Amino acid sequence: GNNKAKLLRGRVLTFSSEPKAPEDTHAYRFEQDGAVLVQNGKITATGSYAELAKSLPEGTVTVDHRPHLICAGFIDTHLHFPQAQVIGSWADQLLDWLNDYTFPEETRFHDKAHGDHIAKGFYDALISNGTTTAVAYCSSQPNSVDAYFEEAARRGMLMLGGKTMMDRNAPEALCDTAQLGYDDSKALIAKWHGNGRAHYTITPRFAITSTPEQLEAAGTLLKEHPDCHLQTHLSENHNEIAFTRELYPEADHYLGVYEKYGLLGPKSLFGHCIHLTPHEHDLMAETDSVAVFCPTSNLFLGSGLFDKKSVENAGIRTAVATDIGGGTSYSMLRTLDEGYKILQLQRQRMHPLTAFYWATLGNSKALGLSDKIGTLDEGTDADIIVLNGAATQPMALRMETVKSLSEELFLLQTLGDDRCIVETYIAGIPSKTTV
Ligand code: GUN
Ligand code: ZN
Repeated sequence: GNNKAKLLRGRVLTFSSEPKAPEDTHAYRFEQDGAVLVQNGKITATGSYAELAKSLPEGTVTVDHRPHLICAGFIDTHLHFPQAQVIGSWADQLLDWLNDYTFPEETRFHDKAHGDHIAKGFYDALISNGTTTAVAYCSSQPNSVDAYFEEAARRGMLMLGGKTMMDRNAPEALCDTAQLGYDDSKALIAKWHGNGRAHYTITPRFAITSTPEQLEAAGTLLKEHPDCHLQTHLSENHNEIAFTRELYPEADHYLGVYEKYGLLGPKSLFGHCIHLTPHEHDLMAETDSVAVFCPTSNLFLGSGLFDKKSVENAGIRTAVATDIGGGTSYSMLRTLDEGYKILQLQRQRMHPLTAFYWATLGNSKALGLSDKIGTLDEGTDADIIVLNGAATQPMALRMETVKSLSEELFLLQTLGDDRCIVETYIAGIPSKTTV
């Protein structure tokens, strides 16, 4: 049972702050022969195997994961639950992709049974890829939120998400109204927020698909529920920006639209943030809002290159995410690889320790949840993954010459995918092997 203590033995890596280089050893802890003690869904100790083995609770079962790496589970801070069957659609850029593939697909979620079916595959994919927490847009039908959180509860996962609010510039079947979007969101917050590990996220899709009245309603919801997150899209694509400026001519810039309705703040997640102006940078930083980088999506939809350095130099908090189904992989390893290449094109070379920090503690800090997830710290939730850097033949061959932790992480990131995830523990329960 879950109350029996479990000792996971392996090469343990966990972060305490953002490392910029391997010399930043204060930013992370690495135990070559390490262990993590898990009980009742929580981490109760992390350290060297020799130390932990001295005083184990009676009946502790040891799981030997050597020589694999034990890390906190990956966190995906932006993806779309109803787009599991949109991935890999041969579309033009963002607005055509939405109209030709994405909106029609999302209308299918009026059927709860369809949502239940997609939820099973969606969570299987997350767990297979070592993602233990994600922040998703559901569709505009409230029952898609039920399908999403019901399956999360069955898997015991800490998940964030919400009903997409949209009341214009989309098919009739997907549109709510300002009032209905408010009422449905409010009812879903009451039903799901704080129910088990569920966190409700207020979700106006983006300025194009919301009337001013709806954005105002979203702002009211956020004011009434300051412990909920908010997510939307911002400055992903040039045509999107131009259309937004037409719809909201009084705003100084795209972010000014969201600012006017009180949507900015430390729990607000803005997907993409590729083409921001210096004024928007300042406003993001002043309000402590989060910019979410979605590498595979930005390349797939030809949206542009996220300028991490400028964003972070402006003092903006950042996160990294898959953006399924504009994104092309559920794997945070694939995502970090594509992110690395986007930054390389701008001569911003990201260190692999920084990359692994970002996908774990960095993302949990961006969500304000680092007291619960993103590390192997004592007292946090036992959402843990086990990584094999020699999972495929080309990786095993390259591994022969790997001499350091940084090199191993970079190999995992550059060549790795779900085949490298040996196990995914959700609240201490091994869940990959049962997928
Ligand atoms: N902007 C508004 N909706 C979406 C979406 O579903 N995916 C992406 N990538 N951008 C969006
Ligand atoms: Zn998105």
